[in-house]
Amino acid sequence: MIPVRRGSAVGANAVSGIGRANGTTGYSMVDCHPRREDILHEVVTGLTKMPKHLPPKLLYDPKGSALFDTITRQPEYYLTRSELSILSSIGDNMQSLVSPDTVIVELGSGSGEKTIHLLNMLPEETAYVAVDISASALDSALSSLAVQFPRKRLIGMVADYLTPLVLPGNFENMPKLFVFFGSTLGNFEPLDAVHFLNDMALSLKPHDALLVGIDLKKTPELIHRAYNDAAGVTAEFNYNVLTRINRDCSANFTLEYFRHEAEYQPDAGRVAMFLVSKKEHTVTIADYDVYFSAGEPITTEYSYKYSIEEFYSLAYQAGWSIDQSWTDANELFSMHYLRPDLV
Ligand code: AVJ
Repeated sequence: MIPVRRGSAVGANAVSGIGRANGTTGYSMVDCHPRREDILHEVVTGLTKMPKHLPPKLLYDPKGSALFDTITRQPEYYLTRSELSILSSIGDNMQSLVSPDTVIVELGSGSGEKTIHLLNMLPEETAYVAVDISASALDSALSSLAVQFPRKRLIGMVADYLTPLVLPGNFENMPKLFVFFGSTLGNFEPLDAVHFLNDMALSLKPHDALLVGIDLKKTPELIHRAYNDAAGVTAEFNYNVLTRINRDCSANFTLEYFRHEAEYQPDAGRVAMFLVSKKEHTVTIADYDVYFSAGEPITTEYSYKYSIEEFYSLAYQAGWSIDQSWTDANELFSMHYLRPDLV
């Protein structure tokens, strides 16, 4: 599970889709989207476990990515606003930390809103690689970046960053800055987060670095509200995973048989998001029958929150040293610049 493997492109994911480079939009795309069979396999595996769960990446089909974007603009969802306020205050720091020959690699780039802020504060010459599970989000993000940064080398990579990646482009000997915004690291269970960060650290060189956004622990009510917005966008985002599975896995989920639930669990330090079956019923997914009892939940996402100290200890365990950290004025969110501890 090495996020980025150095070396030739003869790796787990053949870089075969690079043909979508085009002169008019000013960016190129590599398509390593997981195959349909693999998605079906993950869905059925997760739904035949006790308790049932689904991988959060399935939330991000074209509709889901757009809904997430709408979530980030809800008044209750403080995460994006807080992270953007940190980003807008660290420009000078970043400029002195990042050399012009650096390649920026963003994991889970989404709509690219934060990317614009980031690229604006970095030297013009830096190349940018966006990795996201959603081709539609990548296309829309990169086409607007191409307008704003006409001279920059921009590459999109449709991929699940949980599987080994081979970076496109000839970036072998250039320093890399990985960016992982949005507190998306919080989707991992803490031990998995350590493994993920450790695999990443081990695959890097001394001049590489990581800029990561981490949501902080705070009043449970505030966190709870962020995942239960009044407009119901988070609920719609959650339900959409069923629509997506119906379409991509030939399933027959009835959305009305489920309800959205998201709760902050202070002891575990996480938000858990569920789709709870309102009644006993059976769903067909391709050739499989999946039985639901009344009240049975599917976990669709965890979103772990860390105190600064907890995140430091996680990062150290994973083989990183913290170079700099920042929070927003309200101390809701944090951002950290890390370097691999290479011994
Ligand atoms: C993109 C994973 C960081 O956990 O806050 C938002 C996704 N889920 N509302 C988060 C999400 C429900 C988000 N991350």
